[in-house]
Amino acid sequence: MTAAADLVPPRRPGRQTALRQLLPHLWPAGDLDLRARVVLAIGFLVAAKVANVYLPILARAAFLHDIGKMAIPDSILRKPGPLDDDEKQIMRTHCEIGYHVLTRIPFLRDAAEIVLAHQEFFDGSGYPRGLRGEQIPLGARIFSIADALDAMISDRPYRKALPMSHAREEIRRCAGTQFDPKIVDVFQSIPEQHWLELRENLGSPFRLAQLKNLRA
Ligand SMILES: [Fe+2]
Repeated sequence: MTAAADLVPPRRPGRQTALRQLLPHLWPAGDLDLRARVVLAIGFLVAAKVANVYLPILARAAFLHDIGKMAIPDSILRKPGPLDDDEKQIMRTHCEIGYHVLTRIPFLRDAAEIVLAHQEFFDGSGYPRGLRGEQIPLGARIFSIADALDAMISDRPYRKALPMSHAREEIRRCAGTQFDPKIVDVFQSIPEQHWLELRENLGSPFRLAQLKNLRA
């Protein structure tokens, strides 16, 4: 991985301070899942040697990626069983709703592009636009792997956390379909122990110093 050429360029670099001020008000103290996703996604970017200026953009996107679900009825969000086709269509609107919310806030516009694309699949079978390959912003391609990793290695109401080895194998299996194979290669090149340590040290998601040892 080299530069983040297709990650949305920051309109106003150096706004990390604004994010740091915002986070204490938004970040639920106990929400380890969300925190884990952000940290894993940032760790990914660092490992992929993407310029530091993109880290806060991805962090904002990771933190806010499902904000559009606020507009989805609880009857769908909390439905215990599988969604029917109509309900799936409604659920899928969360990407565009999130995008429209975030583009109204100038310092979140770059993150909004990643939020809009966070459910796209590399092979074009995702939503909402069916983007394919590098049409998908790099930040969204990175986040989707971090999100899947976190989902698999976290306890869920219906199952215990899966082992990291299983998660890594599943991500490898989905290279080229759900995930960008080049980013999967980057992911696979990072030792399993790094992810486990990262996840165990989630005290402060923006202590980027914790992530420096991921740099090759
Ligand atoms: Fe989502």
